[in-house]
Amino acid sequence: MHYFEGKHALVTGAAGGIGAAIVGMLRERGALVAVADRDVTGVDGEAHLPGDLTDSAYADALPAAAAEALGGLDIVVNNAGIMRRGPVTASSDEDFAISVAVNIEAPFRICRAAIPLMAKTGGGAIVNTASCWGVHPGPDHAIYCMTKAAIASLTQCMARDHAQEGVRINAVCPNEVDTPMLRTGFEQRGFDPAGAVAELDKSVPLGRIAQPDDIADVVLFLASDQARYMCGALVEVNGGKSVS
Ligand SMILES: NC(=O)c1ccc[n+]([C@@H]2O[C@H](COP(=O)([O-])OP(=O)(O)OC[C@H]3O[C@@H](n4cnc5c(N)ncnc54)[C@H](O)[C@@H]3O)[C@@H](O)[C@H]2O)c1
Repeated sequence: MHYFEGKHALVTGAAGGIGAAIVGMLRERGALVAVADRDVTGVDGEAHLPGDLTDSAYADALPAAAAEALGGLDIVVNNAGIMRRGPVTASSDEDFAISVAVNIEAPFRICRAAIPLMAKTGGGAIVNTASCWGVHPGPDHAIYCMTKAAIASLTQCMARDHAQEGVRINAVCPNEVDTPMLRTGFEQRGFDPAGAVAELDKSVPLGRIAQPDDIADVVLFLASDQARYMCGALVEVNGGKSVS
């Protein structure tokens, strides 16, 4: 059960739905975890590294800050993300810039800084959060899908380039997950979130949309030695529901 005893992990988006589940499970299984988010008040972790990922200096410095606070860095989970909705004709310059900054540029900066640190100490694992909508086009979320396709591609490219250094890099690609990201989207569109989630449950072959733990379990697997031969995988976690 304690797959992560003695491991040091950095998790971004640690205060969010999926992030909190990842942090909780990693700590339960023995990892020391540095939690990063805009506000980490009330988030349990061995190190607290609050900041805004659109601040490039913060993103660049995060892996070293985690390594220093924890005494090493073996696992990085780039989980933070934002979703701006709508087709391109309804998208602003700000929608584009902030989506690229949070969903692509921040994980790029964090990976660029983390890989040499991990390589120096014998390797490690990075898990990025893409989306089913990064590997298949989804409706009415053009910028979001583009950013998730970019992080999926970056994951595959980095995995090839850095495998020799002992750093495995993979991505998890969830379909709908019951988190604040999903529920606020329903609220913004004037739907009752509970009713909308119940309706969405019916569209999934396994009978329900994902809970954060369903995704966190796969993230932990990819971060663990049990996934030692996985490198550059884009793992869809979708309850059998393909993108339509
Ligand atoms: N919920 C879903 O249906 C779903 C589906 C596929 C992929 N995802 C992806 O899963 C990841 C986690 O999403 P979630 O559903 O838990 O959402 P969430 O909104 O609950 O959590 C996202 C977290 O990222 C943090 N974050 C956003 N912008 C930031 C910034 N500039 N600086 C620092 N932190 C910032 C937020 O504060 C938040 O805590 C995201 O990358 C998301 O795109 C979610």
